[in-house]
Amino acid sequence: MNTAAPKKLPAPRHDEPMAARRPHAEPVDSCTLNTRDAIATLLGGLPVFRPGEVWLVGAGPGDPRHLTLEAVAALASADAVVHDALVDPRVMSLARPEAERVFAGKRGGKPSAVQADIAARLVELARAGRRVVRLKGGDPFMFGRGGEEVETLLAHGISCRVVPGVTSGLAGLAAAGIPATMRGINQAVVLATGHGGIGQEAPDWGAISATGLPLVLYMAMKNLPEIVAALIAGGRPAETPAAIIAAVATSAERVLVSRLDRIVPDALEAGMEPPAIVAIGDIVALRERLAAGLLPFRLAGDDAGTSDIGAAS
Ligand SMILES: C[S@@+](CC[C@H](N)C(=O)[O-])C[C@H]1O[C@@H](n2cnc3c(N)ncnc32)[C@H](O)[C@@H]1O
Repeated sequence: MNTAAPKKLPAPRHDEPMAARRPHAEPVDSCTLNTRDAIATLLGGLPVFRPGEVWLVGAGPGDPRHLTLEAVAALASADAVVHDALVDPRVMSLARPEAERVFAGKRGGKPSAVQADIAARLVELARAGRRVVRLKGGDPFMFGRGGEEVETLLAHGISCRVVPGVTSGLAGLAAAGIPATMRGINQAVVLATGHGGIGQEAPDWGAISATGLPLVLYMAMKNLPEIVAALIAGGRPAETPAAIIAAVATSAERVLVSRLDRIVPDALEAGMEPPAIVAIGDIVALRERLAAGLLPFRLAGDDAGTSDIGAAS
């Protein structure tokens, strides 16, 4: 039996605690004392966020419950939060009301100029002695330009830390009940971007296809017809199971299961839209065995729960 007096957690700094905002979530008081103790112990061991530092923090795919403890603590102590478009407002609401909020989403047409502006703003805020959180969807180092931002900050002599987050590719698989690896099916998995537009680096789909490995694609919706054609031309069987998992960990989450040669028309018909993860490979077929038995990825009160748009064979 645990007879130790429970350590008191600091009172929430927000007008509206999480449990009140999300009535379906477990009320805070139902946390066991052991859970509170464990969280308090972990909070005590976190690094100190010093003025003038920039922390690149992974916000996870959407729902705040996927945040790491370190991400929550960083948000709660930041003086400024520079955030991307895909960061869920529920995550942003964890920042102090008085923290400066800077939107750093992409504006159409000039990605490189915007990136330079973002880096310049981070440098400016850090030099003004602020504790700056650079909040990025998913994981900061996964297709998030986190590496470039760290390079710029270090070049300006600014101390940085990277707080990893749950990347949407892996969260998307979890939401759909698709294991990234499974003994007897695959010993590796490819995480790739489907973005490669004009003038940008694109993956070598022929070479990737030839590996036979399952693929988890980010930013692939726009170029999906070309990607599918290149994968099939590279030898990937047309009947390879494929899925699209959209808006993972948000109230709009949807899963479409199809096969490689039908995924594009099926997605069009179902109105699947970005942000989305595309999964291709035999691992996708495991969903049929696993998903029905898994507890739901999203919480029961999140609107209608995940919409499943059928499992075409
Ligand atoms: C610029 S990348 C950033 C990826 C991010 N750093 C991560 O680790 O998830 C943006 C792409 O991530 C994917 N993505 C991000 N959030 C998502 C979500 N909630 N549901 C599905 N896909 C998401 C989409 O493919 C989107 O086009």
